[in-house]
Amino acid sequence: LDFTLSESQEAYKRTVVEVAKKLRANNHFDEESIEHYKAVLDSIVEGNLFDPLLAEDGEGIGKSFAVITARESFSRYYPFADFVFAEQALAIIPFLLFGNSEQKQEFLPPLINGNLIGGFALTEETSGSDASSLSCKAEKTDDGGYLLTGKKMWISNAPIGDLFIVFARTGEDKRKGVSAFIVDANESGIIKNTIHLAAPHPIGELIFDHFKVDSSRVLGAEGEGFKIAMASLDILRPGVGAHAIGTSKSALDYIIPFTQERISFNQPLSSYQSIQFKMADMYTKIRTAQWLVYHCAWKRDSGMKSTIESSMAKMYATEKANEILYDCTQINGARGVVKDSHLEKLSRVIRPASIYEGTTDVQKMVIHRQLTKMFEEEGEIL
Ligand code: CAA
Repeated sequence: LDFTLSESQEAYKRTVVEVAKKLRANNHFDEESIEHYKAVLDSIVEGNLFDPLLAEDGEGIGKSFAVITARESFSRYYPFADFVFAEQALAIIPFLLFGNSEQKQEFLPPLINGNLIGGFALTEETSGSDASSLSCKAEKTDDGGYLLTGKKMWISNAPIGDLFIVFARTGEDKRKGVSAFIVDANESGIIKNTIHLAAPHPIGELIFDHFKVDSSRVLGAEGEGFKIAMASLDILRPGVGAHAIGTSKSALDYIIPFTQERISFNQPLSSYQSIQFKMADMYTKIRTAQWLVYHCAWKRDSGMKSTIESSMAKMYATEKANEILYDCTQINGARGVVKDSHLEKLSRVIRPASIYEGTTDVQKMVIHRQLTKMFEEEGEIL
């Protein structure tokens, strides 16, 4: 396995860093406004950073490579841009995997060029980890369309999004009774409630009451919704791992000079073995997370299934990033808990990463199931 980047991969990474640093120069970190969101989305679009997602499999720099590179560098230099990139990608990927040619033609260009803000509405108040237990229902009408009724909760971009992939129940079977719908959120009849999180992130509820959806807006086939959700998350979960790596690097970028400059008991903090050992552990965690995340993206971009790798990458990188933020804050002392100080902001940004797109325990379930399957099929593992 070779992580040497091709020229075009290097160029993509350089552009992400340039866009991120330009945004950082006019830092509006805490601004959750739609204007800020759109300005950041425009910058991502101007850098053509969604374009690699459109390439045919096996061509270009790789869809997964693009996702992990953008998420890592945005998280390091401008976390809000990471969020904007991730949510748009979450709407784009299901179209790429399951959209028919008309749906791709209609919806991919406005998502790629930032004219539509997208979202992915799977979770409900009582259906988070057990995603296939969702109860939002889609009833068939005489003209072949559907009426959506129910509430989606913890949906990123709910207050501001234009277009959502909404997962709803079309049948009795727990998994095969779930379908995916393309929903225009600018049509009247949807109630949108905002939930305020600790870190800036537009999120909330979408409430439907007999909301009409045309039959042409079913993504994939009826009953394929759960598969669509899971297959999309396979691609996107390593992106959460990359976000964790970028956040960890940002913490280290800050704490290394701090340990060299801060004098305690007449010596710089960096001269103490307890600090040195913490730094060594943190760096090793970041590098290990990078191996898992890059390996996963490489497998996926090479056309191989990456379900187990996606879960390992997401679980490990996000858990370790939370540990890294804890350790950096310990080293930083009281400064690290001052509201809006660098590490305090990063701690707020990183905590949800072990929860969204599948909690750490969900990743463990997936890893164990895949492991058992591999063992049954091959009689041994690795
Ligand atoms: N790819 C394709 N299809 C898949 C799949 C995958 N990786 N995993 C499952 N499926 C399909 C298959 O058809 C499978 O049937 P087979 O076993 O016969 O192949 C079927 O789904 C059922 O799979 P499971 O038995 O594994 O289903 P389950 O009900 O036991 O659920 C789970 C498994 C892993 C716990 C799943 O419910 C899950 O991932 N839960 C977490 C949900 C989640 O990540 N939510 C995040 C929401 S999005 C978000 O957070 C973004 C945001 O807005 C911030």
